[in-house]
Amino acid sequence: MATSTHSAPATARHQIGDFAVGPQYVIDVRDQPPDMFEDHSTKNWSKLTWRDVGRPYRVEKWASEKKDYERTHGEPLPILDGWKKFNANFHKYFNTNVPEAAKSARAELTQAIAKFDMHGASEAVEEMFHLLIWNRIHRAEDAIWDPRGKRALFEGLNVKKPRILFLGAADGYEAMALAAMYPGGHTVLVDYDDFCKTERFGKFPEAYPFLGVDPATGHKRVWYREEMNIDFEVEDIRNLKYGREFDIVVSIGLVEHFPDEHKALAYEFHRRFVKPGGYVIVTTPRDQTRTRAWYYVMSDLLNYGYRELMDVNQLGLYSHENGFDVLRAGVIKAHNGLILKVRDSR
Ligand SMILES: C[S@@+](CC[C@H](N)C(=O)[O-])C[C@H]1O[C@@H](n2cnc3c(N)ncnc32)[C@H](O)[C@@H]1O
Repeated sequence: MATSTHSAPATARHQIGDFAVGPQYVIDVRDQPPDMFEDHSTKNWSKLTWRDVGRPYRVEKWASEKKDYERTHGEPLPILDGWKKFNANFHKYFNTNVPEAAKSARAELTQAIAKFDMHGASEAVEEMFHLLIWNRIHRAEDAIWDPRGKRALFEGLNVKKPRILFLGAADGYEAMALAAMYPGGHTVLVDYDDFCKTERFGKFPEAYPFLGVDPATGHKRVWYREEMNIDFEVEDIRNLKYGREFDIVVSIGLVEHFPDEHKALAYEFHRRFVKPGGYVIVTTPRDQTRTRAWYYVMSDLLNYGYRELMDVNQLGLYSHENGFDVLRAGVIKAHNGLILKVRDSR
């Protein structure tokens, strides 16, 4: 385990209300409504059935690297290897200066056409397509990080200086959002891809502002990554030795990678580490036209393993039938989100 806590103050400063679209990402510390959260909390989950809600949609357009591996080896691509490729590709786009990259792709296309290089032209067109959709989802809509939607989903938890556990943490974004809203505690990020520790979280922009609260005054304030007390553990979730000791256990885009015969195990991972009465937060990508289009266009870069898209009713029903009470349910830009408690643990 390695700590990333620093006492040095952040160099970059933002004001509450700031909003700016940068070449790589959006800064959004606006605190005014409308919140990007559609509330579905009043649903009676015990009355829902699978017949009512239908089954999730499976994304089955695979990355060509996965297909090539499986053709050559005659066996499925190992799951961790798939995540390593996913994280490396995703990170490359997070690090891309989109306007510059789009300009280079256009120049490459022009050159390739001038030389009648049809292979080069088709590669340039493909890259332009990837950049176009990345730009739309991450820069125009800010739908991946979605700070406003996530704040709206995470608000109102009754915790002080919480211990937070993030299962399958990748860049750790949502745990940092939580640590800003509920400061003064300790956060553990867990991911078995070490690239997430060194690169995705390790090089997460230090100047990115998270809107949260000042525990001394109760007023809003901006937090930065290096002001938070965070450890990153490179480990398989199945091997974690923690007990029921965390105030909040969170996963973002994890349970939809477990087919139905393993859903109970996915929920068990959350239950295993949350204190009696603590909160479990689960989000999964929404089944909507734009998300299907995203995985269609980006499949070669992101789709290496089993993946479902679902709606909030399906996620709520999975959670309810796996022994959780749904305290809050809603949809944000790209995900369904639930705040849960283990049933009978309050
Ligand atoms: C779909 S990603 C989460 C999406 C994330 N929000 C992002 O921005 O990429 C799931 C993450 O969980 C990790 N993961 C999956 N299964 C795991 C396991 N058994 N133990 C530890 N980490 C796991 C993967 O390495 C991956 O980084």
